[in-house]
Amino acid sequence: MSRSLGSLQVGPQGLGCMGMSEFYGAGDEAESVAVIHRALELGVTLLDTADMYGPHVNEELVGRAIADRRSDVVLATKFGIVRDGGGRSIRGDREYVRASVEGSLKRLGTDVIDLYYLHRVPADTPIEETVGAMAELVTEGKVRHLGLSEAGAETLRRAHAVHPITALQSEWSLWSRDIEAEIVPTARELGIGLVPYSPLGRGVLTGRFASSADFGKGDFRAVNPRFSGDNLDANLKMVAELRALAEARGVTAGQLALAWVQHRGSDVVPIPGTKRIKYLEENVAAASLELSDDDLAAIEAAVPASAVAGDRYPDMSSIGR
Ligand SMILES: NC(=O)c1ccc[n+]([C@@H]2O[C@H](COP(=O)([O-])OP(=O)(O)OC[C@H]3O[C@@H](n4cnc5c(N)ncnc54)[C@H](OP(=O)(O)O)[C@@H]3O)[C@@H](O)[C@H]2O)c1
Repeated sequence: MSRSLGSLQVGPQGLGCMGMSEFYGAGDEAESVAVIHRALELGVTLLDTADMYGPHVNEELVGRAIADRRSDVVLATKFGIVRDGGGRSIRGDREYVRASVEGSLKRLGTDVIDLYYLHRVPADTPIEETVGAMAELVTEGKVRHLGLSEAGAETLRRAHAVHPITALQSEWSLWSRDIEAEIVPTARELGIGLVPYSPLGRGVLTGRFASSADFGKGDFRAVNPRFSGDNLDANLKMVAELRALAEARGVTAGQLALAWVQHRGSDVVPIPGTKRIKYLEENVAAASLELSDDDLAAIEAAVPASAVAGDRYPDMSSIGR
């Protein structure tokens, strides 16, 4: 069973590799590589990384893991977020696009990237310049398909007019539904596939966390409004409702959250992230969970997105641009 992202065929669920290197506590390289191998065995084909994860070391890890099985993988990476010491900026000028792809190809140990995303839309470079430079990479055979991440509807239209956009990767989960009003319909009108990231609400929708004390030192969630103080306490009450629904059905809260995302449409391929085989297997199993309209309504009533407390990033200025 596969799903289509534009003209790209992938397994029904992808694997987010980001947390293997950074953001959610320390990982173990051997186990991360084993997770990638097990994912491929289980029918996951889409692997997701980015040059800014680590930075750079996540692409290197993925490259090592797939070196002897490159043809089994639909390899996706991203560029555009520049990490400079503690700061960040966004670049999409042609020179930067061309330099970025060379770095990613080298670190991934491949001569072609299947899906190359602009990670965030820059404020100071027209999208036509960025996508034009990305299209040159397709012509040169360095990249097969183009994607955007967290782009707004108007940007999607302008980008797609320059070169077909295969996928939009944006946060989409039970508690992050803001793309549904305008961005998802625009993507569908243009035939652009949808890749929800953080479909498990960065792990919180699994019911695994009881308080912010469960996030270790350096964990991204500890500085994110949605995962802090009173906001987290309020959000965890909703997760408790989701857990009760899941228990009644003999599945986990994470599986219900993921199955809900899988039910958004046949053009939707979520990329839950994990560095543990146990979680990977649980997540893959959620892709074949069948939910009725009543089930979906009960899940949405347990975690009403309009009641979620706190923004999903400390700085939302580059989102939906
Ligand atoms: N385009 C963008 O701007 C953007 C932003 C964020 C992420 N992404 C991509 O999207 C991928 C997925 O998003 P994400 O990793 O942020 O969030 P996520 O998939 O919603 O959640 C990941 C977290 O959930 C935990 N987890 C996973 N499966 C679990 C299970 N079955 N039971 C309990 N806990 C479970 C993971 O734990 P462990 O780490 O302990 O396994 C990790 O802490 C990333 O890997 C990355 O490739 C893209």
